[in-house]
Amino acid sequence: MRKKVTIVGSGNVGATAAHWIAAKELADVVLLDVVEGVPQGKALDLLQAMPIEKRDCSIIGTNDYADTVNSDVVVITAGIARKPGMSRDDLLTTNHGIMSKVVGEVVKASPNTIIIVVSNPLDAMAQTAFKQAGFPRERVIGMAGVLDSARFRTFIAEELEVSVENVTAFVLGGHGDTMVPLSRYSTVAGIPITELIEPARLKELETRTANGGAEIVKHLKTGSAYYAPSAAAVEMVEAILKDKKKILPCAAYLQGEYGISGLYVGVPCKLGAKGLEQIIEIKLTPEEQAALQKSADSVKELCTVIGVA
Ligand SMILES: NC(=O)c1ccc[n+]([C@@H]2O[C@H](COP(=O)([O-])OP(=O)(O)OC[C@H]3O[C@@H](n4cnc5c(N)ncnc54)[C@H](O)[C@@H]3O)[C@@H](O)[C@H]2O)c1
Repeated sequence: MRKKVTIVGSGNVGATAAHWIAAKELADVVLLDVVEGVPQGKALDLLQAMPIEKRDCSIIGTNDYADTVNSDVVVITAGIARKPGMSRDDLLTTNHGIMSKVVGEVVKASPNTIIIVVSNPLDAMAQTAFKQAGFPRERVIGMAGVLDSARFRTFIAEELEVSVENVTAFVLGGHGDTMVPLSRYSTVAGIPITELIEPARLKELETRTANGGAEIVKHLKTGSAYYAPSAAAVEMVEAILKDKKKILPCAAYLQGEYGISGLYVGVPCKLGAKGLEQIIEIKLTPEEQAALQKSADSVKELCTVIGVA
């Protein structure tokens, strides 16, 4: 039997995630939205691409959670996105209300599912989903680090004129201005980038990474990035559905790891069939640990505002 993935929110990120899943023939897809007609139209359109792409997936659009029952994975992209001049934190109260409602419905329809949260502000929304779902932390994971590190990898590959396949990069911390790109653990064909790019230039690439979302919002004017964000969410979906045991930077609920407790923060995670299967603790320098703590503090501040700290 094919796996089933529900995507809640059929806007830019949600619909493009459906596209990547179908293109990779990973699972049957249910696209859900509050707006009537949009998920139905997008799903039917995507379904009609399947004979051309030679992929066998069922893709349906709906406004009814009854169609989502027993999903293996649910990706939540519902909410509002940023416009120029807005920070991710400006979305807090609106998306908190939407996330609470959505998760209540998701859990009723699919009590054993694994939830991947995409809506912003990411870490606070993952925390909201976790508290609302009542699932173990293994089954509520936030997507941010895969995207942030893909941005860093893109800039490193461009800088050194090497294949993106040669570049690995790690970005820790919350999904915001306080994220912590870890150059020390980023490599090109196994060579630390600190040996290939001089410190001042590296700092510029780190800063561009931290502002990567805002750079795209500025271009688009009417919304925020969605090709890379949806591809990032689907890399997590694939790791889970195929039980790949893949190490990816994800937002996870920390219980003492990295000296942080009771909070979603981006850290290296092993993803497999059970969802979050392990949090990998790497040694940080005092400066890196301080940057991670600062990032966690700003996540905590948001969580306190919406009462999920
Ligand atoms: N984590 C990340 O790295 C990352 C990256 C990009 C975008 N995002 C976030 O993802 C979210 C979606 O972005 P987008 O560009 O797709 O926005 P979008 O506006 O294109 O789509 C959002 C969709 O959610 C729907 N929606 C609203 N309330 C809903 C509800 N109660 N139930 C079901 N659907 C509902 C809307 O109708 C809309 O179709 C935003 O919050 C954005 O900030 C996160």
